[in-house]
Amino acid sequence: MQRLLEKLAPGDADYELARAIDPARLPAHIAIIMDGNGRWAKRRYLPRVSGHRAGVQAVRTTVETCAQLGLRALTLYAFSMENWKRPRAEVETLWRLLRIYLGSELPLMMRHDIRFGAIGRLDALPAFVRAELDEVIRRTENNRGLLLNLAINYGGRAEIVDAVRTLIKDALVEDARAGRTEIDEAAISARLYTAGMPDPDLLIRTSGEMRISNFLLWQIAYAELYVTNTLWPDFTRAELLEAILDYQRRDRRFGGLGEPTLSEETATDPETVDPAIEPAGIPAR
Ligand code: FPP
Repeated sequence: MQRLLEKLAPGDADYELARAIDPARLPAHIAIIMDGNGRWAKRRYLPRVSGHRAGVQAVRTTVETCAQLGLRALTLYAFSMENWKRPRAEVETLWRLLRIYLGSELPLMMRHDIRFGAIGRLDALPAFVRAELDEVIRRTENNRGLLLNLAINYGGRAEIVDAVRTLIKDALVEDARAGRTEIDEAAISARLYTAGMPDPDLLIRTSGEMRISNFLLWQIAYAELYVTNTLWPDFTRAELLEAILDYQRRDRRFGGLGEPTLSEETATDPETVDPAIEPAGIPAR
């Protein structure tokens, strides 16, 4: 947080936004569905790929800001399993852009202590993309700041299928050893691509679409959603800070009633006990 403030000039609009953020209540993990590149290009009578090219700058700004804020993780949806349905030339441009991005961003990652990772069915990627990803993963593996995850050839349902397959394999091995594999939420979480990472607290989607698009289906169970009409190439540092401020104004209850908890405060409060509802097992009079 302090690192971001040091980079901004007092009086700047972004400085004021950053100062309004409570550093003690930052989201640990932000996930972003970067949408609207095609529409951004169309509005300018440009080919769709110009929108993707313009989107790279928004990626750069977002990654740097999240690192300066001191977040633990940022996951960007760069290519879904469904994106293979796009024209071949567009898909190839996306791979080329990814390669250029990975090749040029290493100094920024090292400067900000960013650890890079990729999630998705990576085996199906072109070999040159895979090699570039592996190289950046290796070069940044000892960094301890922000974990930057790119979701590539990613699908939320496929991820759960992969986790269940692993779980079954592990259970068979344990069975042969006469052991027992627990099958509970923790067991599935531990076998997702995101194992060991905190779940996203905040999911941002640009371009106004109210969809999840098969992104991190398991992990976003309790994420706060922030949808903006801004198209991804126009997504600025200011808008990221505004999304975080909006998140900090939310009352996160995780299905409960917020603080204080039901058991501590309200269980015997006559205002919350409906006399018409008898506790289970006690016959109504
Ligand atoms: C969605 O916009 C965006 C994508 C499918 C790709 C995202 C890629 C980038 C932001 C650039 C490269 C990324 C990295 C990490 C270097 P869309 O094409 O679906 O837009 P539309 O809905 O307006 O058509």
